Amino acid sequence: MPDTPNSESEFDVIVIGAGAAGMMCAWQAGLRGRRVLLIDHADEPGKKILISGGGRCNFTNLTAAPRNFLSANPHFCKSALARYTQNDFIDLVNRHGIAWHEKTLGQLFCDGSARQIVDMLVGECRDAGVDLRLGHTVTAIEKPDRFTVSTQKGPFTSDSLVLATGGLSIPKMGATGFAYDIARRFGLPIAQTRAGLVPLTFSEADLDFMRGLSGLSFDAVVSTGKTQFREAVLFTHRGLSGPAILQVSSYLPDGAAISVNLLPDRDAADFLLERKRERAKAETQTVLSELLPARLATGFAERFVPKRPVGEVADKALTVLGNTLNAWRIVPTGNEGYAKAEVTVGGIDTGALSSKTMAAKSVPGLYAVGEAVDVTGWLGGYNFQWAWSSGWAAGQDA
Ligand code: FDA
Repeated sequence: MPDTPNSESEFDVIVIGAGAAGMMCAWQAGLRGRRVLLIDHADEPGKKILISGGGRCNFTNLTAAPRNFLSANPHFCKSALARYTQNDFIDLVNRHGIAWHEKTLGQLFCDGSARQIVDMLVGECRDAGVDLRLGHTVTAIEKPDRFTVSTQKGPFTSDSLVLATGGLSIPKMGATGFAYDIARRFGLPIAQTRAGLVPLTFSEADLDFMRGLSGLSFDAVVSTGKTQFREAVLFTHRGLSGPAILQVSSYLPDGAAISVNLLPDRDAADFLLERKRERAKAETQTVLSELLPARLATGFAERFVPKRPVGEVADKALTVLGNTLNAWRIVPTGNEGYAKAEVTVGGIDTGALSSKTMAAKSVPGLYAVGEAVDVTGWLGGYNFQWAWSSGWAAGQDA
C-alpha cells in the first residue's frame, strides 16, 4: 500500500522565516501546487516589514538594478532581479488596491500602512494553501534522506528546505544567525558579516564638535574610496546618521575615512575669498550662512577661523576652511552595530548557490533567500526588492 503523507507533518517544502523573502517564496511554491509549511519563531509574520519605512514600508524602488546591491559577486543578483522585477511587485500591490506614492529617489511607500503589505502576503499564502505556523522554535535539522526539522512543537519533514531567516540586524526583534549556522552545518561558506545601513560613531574629540550640532540635517555628498552618495546627513549625539551616512556605512572598511562635501555645488574656498572682497565687514559665519544653515555655518567657522570679520581673516585660513567644507575628512571609530543597523552586509556565500534558483549547489533541496544571502541593497526599498526577487526565484524551484 503506498504511503499517504501525514498532512500535519509531511510537506514538499518547508520555509523557515515568515519575513519578506520567506512569505514570497512560500506563496510561489504553494501556487505551483507544492505542500508548503512556513514556520517562524515569532508570534506574527513580517515584523520587519511592519516597522520598515517608518511604518509605511518602502517596499521597492523604481530604479532597482544590480548596481544598487553589494555582494562579493556583484553579478549574482542579476538573474533574480531580472526575473521578478520592481514592476512585478508594483503590479501585485496594485492588484491588491494598496495605494502608494514615490517619496524621493524612486522610493515607493504605502500611503497607508506597512501592515497592508504583510496582510497581502499572508493572504496570498493562505489562498495558495501555505500552512503558516508561528511560535515554532527550530531545535534541530537533519537530512538523512528528506529534511527533518525538529521544533518544540514536534518534527516536520520535507524534500526542500528554504532558509529565509534574514540577517543579524535588530536582535531585539528576534534576528538570529540561524541561517548562517544551518548553512555552515551543510558545508556552505559564509561571507564575513557586518552591520550595514548603520549610523557611524566617532572619537570624543570629533563628538565634542558634532554634539553641538546635534539634530541638524543638511544635503551633502558623502564618499569613501570611489563610492559616493548625495543625500541628507544628520548630526546626532552619538555621531553622524542620515541617509548619505547609512549608505556609505555599508561600503566602509574598518578604520577608513569618509569625506563629507557640505557644499557639493560650490567651490567653498573661492566663495569665501570672493566674500572677503565683497563683504569684508561681515563675520565669516555670517557669509557662510548664505550657503549653509546658520548653526552649521557657525560651527565650522568657529572651528577653523578666528572670530573676526571675513576681511581680516588670512586667505590661507579661508582656503583651509573652504577646502574642509568641500571635503571634510573624518575617520569613524566604528558604527552603532546590529542594534541600529537596517541590514547585514555579507552572509551565505553566493558561490555556493545557483543565482537562478537560490538552490545550494552541493545540498539537493536546500535553498537560501533574502538578507541571509550575501546580497545587500542600498537604502531606499532595494533590500525588500531583493527579498521579493530571491524569494520568488526559489519559489519557482523548491
Ligand atoms: P526578515 O528579517 O524580514 O525575516 C526573517 C524572518 O525569520 C523573521 O520573521 C524572523 O522572525 C524569522 N526568524 C529569524 N530567526 C529565526 C529562527 N531561528 N527560527 C525561526 N524563525 C526565525 N528594507 C527596504 O527595502 N525598505 C525599507 O523601508 C526598510 N526599512 C527597514 C527598517 C528597519 C528598522 C530595518 C531593521 C530594516 C529595514 N529594511 C528595509 C531592511 C529589510 O527589512 C530587510 O532587508 C528584509 O526584511 C529582509 O527580508 P528577509 O525575509 O530576508 O528577512
